[in-house]
Amino acid sequence: MQQIVMQGGTALHGRVEVSGAKNAALPLMAAALLTESPCDITNMPDLGDIRTFSMLLRQFGAHVEALGSGKMRIQARSFASVEAPYDLVKTMRASVLVLGPLVARCGQARVSLPGGCAIGARPIDQHLEGIRALGADITLDHGYVYARAQRLRGADIHLRMPTVTGTENLMMAAALAAGRSRIHPAAREPEVVCLAEVLTCMGARVTGAGTDTIEIEGVSCLQPFQCTVIPDRIEAGTFAIAAAITGGKVEVAHCRPGHLEAVIQQLRAVGVRVEADDSTLYVERRGLLRPVNITTTPYPGFPTDMQAQMMALMTLARGTSIIRETVFENRFMHVAELRRMGAQIDVRGNTARVHGQDALTGAQLMATDLRASAGLILAGLAAQGETVVSRMYHLDRGYEHIEKKLVALGAKIWRQG
Ligand code: EPZ
Repeated sequence: MQQIVMQGGTALHGRVEVSGAKNAALPLMAAALLTESPCDITNMPDLGDIRTFSMLLRQFGAHVEALGSGKMRIQARSFASVEAPYDLVKTMRASVLVLGPLVARCGQARVSLPGGCAIGARPIDQHLEGIRALGADITLDHGYVYARAQRLRGADIHLRMPTVTGTENLMMAAALAAGRSRIHPAAREPEVVCLAEVLTCMGARVTGAGTDTIEIEGVSCLQPFQCTVIPDRIEAGTFAIAAAITGGKVEVAHCRPGHLEAVIQQLRAVGVRVEADDSTLYVERRGLLRPVNITTTPYPGFPTDMQAQMMALMTLARGTSIIRETVFENRFMHVAELRRMGAQIDVRGNTARVHGQDALTGAQLMATDLRASAGLILAGLAAQGETVVSRMYHLDRGYEHIEKKLVALGAKIWRQG
C-alpha cells in the first residue's frame, strides 16, 4: 500500500499550476452519453476517478479515448449495456451520474446503489425522486436501482436540499425530456454551471445555472460538444493553504479565484496575505495565524471539501477556532489523526473546537477519504520531523501528481511502497 512520507518545516516558494476539476470532469463525461456523436473534453485531470469513470462508460459500450495532453474523446454511438455494476459504483459514488443520461437516452438504466461512505450515509433519494418526477418508473431490486421510461417529460422538481450531483443528474435527464423542467433549490456550484453551459452547447435550453432555480427546456436530440474542464477550485484552495501553513509564498496559477471567494475571505481573516487576478492566487504568510470560526455550507458558502485542509491550518493558530460541518454528518475522520500530531481538537456533534498550538510533530497517519488525506499532507508539511501517511489511493483519486507539484515548491515529500 503506497504511503507518502514528508519531512516538515520547509516554507514553500514558487509557482504551481492547478489541474482540471475532478468534480466538473465527471458530469461532463456522463453528458457525453446523451448524444451518439463524439464529444471532446480538454484539460482533463489524470486521476483515479477519471479512469474509473472511463471504465464505466466503456462497459456500456462507449468509445473512450485518451488523446494525450489532457484531451479525451468519448462517443456513445450505441449501448451494449445500461448497467452500472456494483464493483465500479462501490469504488466511486459519482458513478450515479450515469442514471439521468441513460434513462433519458436509452429509456432504461440499472445502476447499483452506491452504499455508505466514510464521510456520511450519502443517500441518493433526491436523484430518484427527481427522475421519478420526470416520469420514470423506478424500482429497487437486489441493491440496484432499475429505472424505465418511454420518454421523460418536463416537471417541477423540488429538492430537499441543493444536492450537487443530484442537480447535475436531473439537468442531464431533463435535457432530453419533452417540455420544460424546473429544479429548486438547485446546487449553485461552478461545476453545475460548467455542465449547464455544455448542455446549452448541445442544444438544450438551460437558464438560471448558478442560481437556486434552474429551468431546462428539453429537446428530442442533443448535439456533440467540445469543452474545457474548469480549474479545480479545491486543488487551488489546498495549495493556498500549503503556502499558508508552511509560512511560504506561492503563486497558484491556472485557477479561477472567483470560485474561491469564501476560502480567500477566511484566509485573509486568519492573517494570510492573498492577492488575486483572473487566473492566479498570490498567497503569502509572514506573521502569526489568527483563529477563525467557519461553517461549511453549499456554494457559495465555505466548501466542505476544504474543511479538513482549513482545520489543519487552524491547529497552528493563536487561539481557538470553531469549525462547523453542516453538509456531511461524518466528516471529522481526520481529527483523530491530527491529534496524533499533537493537535488539540474537541468534537461535539458537527462542531470541532480547534485549540491552536505552536507546533505539530510528525507521526504515522492513516488517510480515510480524499480531502482528509489532503489535510494530513498539509499538517505533515508544517510539522517538526517526519510524517508518513498511508492509504494514499484516496489522494490519487482527486489530486493530480500532488507530490511532484509540492516538490517543485521546495517540499521534502516522496512516495514509498
Ligand atoms: C458533491 O458530492 C461532490 N462530489 C463532493 O466532493 C462534495 O463534497 C459535495 O458535492 C458537496 O459539495 C462530486 O461532485 C462528484 P451532495 P454529492 O449531493 O453530489 C445529502 C470530493 O471530495 N443528500 O451535494 O454526492 C448528502 O448526504 C467529493 O471531491 C441526500 O440526503 O453531494 C449530503 O449530506 C466528496 N439525498 C448533502 O445532501 C440525496 O439524494 C449534500 O450532498 C443527495 C444528497
